[in-house]
Amino acid sequence: MGKKILVTGGTGYIGSHTVVELINAHHEVVILDNLYNSGISVLDGIRDITGVKPEFHQIDLCDKERLDAFFAGRDDIDSVIHFAAYKAVGESAEKPLMYYHNNLNSTLNLLDAMIRHGISNIVFSSSCTVYGEPDKLPVDEQAPVKEPSSPYGNTKQVNEQMIRFTVEAGHPIRGISLRYFNPIGAHPSAKIGEAPQGIPNNLLPYITQTAFGIREKLKVFGNDYDTPDGTPIRDYINVVDLSKAHVVAIERLIDQKNKKGYEFFNIGTGRGHTVLEVIQAFERATGQKINHQIVARRPGDVEKVYADTTAANQELGWKAEKTLEETLLSAWNWEKAYRQNKNEQ
Ligand code: NAD
Ligand code: UFG
Repeated sequence: MGKKILVTGGTGYIGSHTVVELINAHHEVVILDNLYNSGISVLDGIRDITGVKPEFHQIDLCDKERLDAFFAGRDDIDSVIHFAAYKAVGESAEKPLMYYHNNLNSTLNLLDAMIRHGISNIVFSSSCTVYGEPDKLPVDEQAPVKEPSSPYGNTKQVNEQMIRFTVEAGHPIRGISLRYFNPIGAHPSAKIGEAPQGIPNNLLPYITQTAFGIREKLKVFGNDYDTPDGTPIRDYINVVDLSKAHVVAIERLIDQKNKKGYEFFNIGTGRGHTVLEVIQAFERATGQKINHQIVARRPGDVEKVYADTTAANQELGWKAEKTLEETLLSAWNWEKAYRQNKNEQ
């Protein structure tokens, strides 16, 4: 049996799906989360799917002393997948220091602890937001990192650099940043999924909540972009496919198959869809009509971005597998199961 993998933010949306895939791949997992944006009941969902309830510790990564106390005397962990962060782009523009504080201090404390406790491998959650509005599509990893359009996006750039420079300084750490495109959907069991608090900012939870009758109508932010139907194009990646990319990335580090100490990969499908295409595909997949209305553009939105995934396909041996329709159906099934569960509580 290998050593355990620490998953920070492991009760969150992408973290919980990744924990399931790690357990499915026979890894032992330890979760750290402060439960700022997730609930402890997620552990039951993971247990229902996998038969394993992972070890959990409620710790804030910004609390350096508690983090140190956690690592002290633990020689059973050699790898970390680091999801824990705040992630709302709009909120980060309103409260920049809150985002810098959480998203930078947490990684700083983690890297520091990794060095002191001899933990070698880190996979980090980055975002295609680092490319801004790309000059060339599909965008590959050689594309320049652009001026950040939000404090959130800036924290992703700085986090990547923190890991890269730590590796390059000769510390015994290897790292991979995964630049996610737009993660959507839920586990096909509908036992875990995305549970945003308040009014959702992202397209998919807004669509499923509109279908469920919680929101009256979806506002489509602009139809005057230079795209076939005028609405912006994104690369929507199934969260289970995305989670599997973390399994291969951490195994690459554990098995020391990485060619360089620090690497970064795009994780998307390679295909772009407009907002109207997503609405139509959701209606086809679920039979639910989505009441929607075109409104003004949302400030800060890029026009089109989708991934060149050649590097992830060839180097990691990973490829997105699920169709857009099955992904949208999984999001709808999760929304229904989640609401039913809430009602029963
Ligand atoms: P999420 O909010 O569901 O999960 C993040 C988890 O981290 C939450 O459970 C939260 O409680 C925890 N957390 C936050 N700050 C913490 C701290 N200081 N200490 C301990 N725990 C803390 O978000 P998600 O959608 O699962 O995103 C996971 C990661 O992926 C984030 O780093 C996010 O920025 C990145 N990402 C997400 C998307 C997306 O669209 N969801 C896109 C690109 C990148
Ligand atoms: N959209 C709407 N109406 C809504 C919500 C979204 O029309 O109510 C549109 C947006 O304008 C955009 C598309 O749906 O064209 C996708 O929007 P999301 O908010 O779901 O996703 P973004 O592409 O804006 O943002 C995502 C992640 C960020 C990350 C960014 C990188 O949520 O964390 O990708 O580009 F920084």
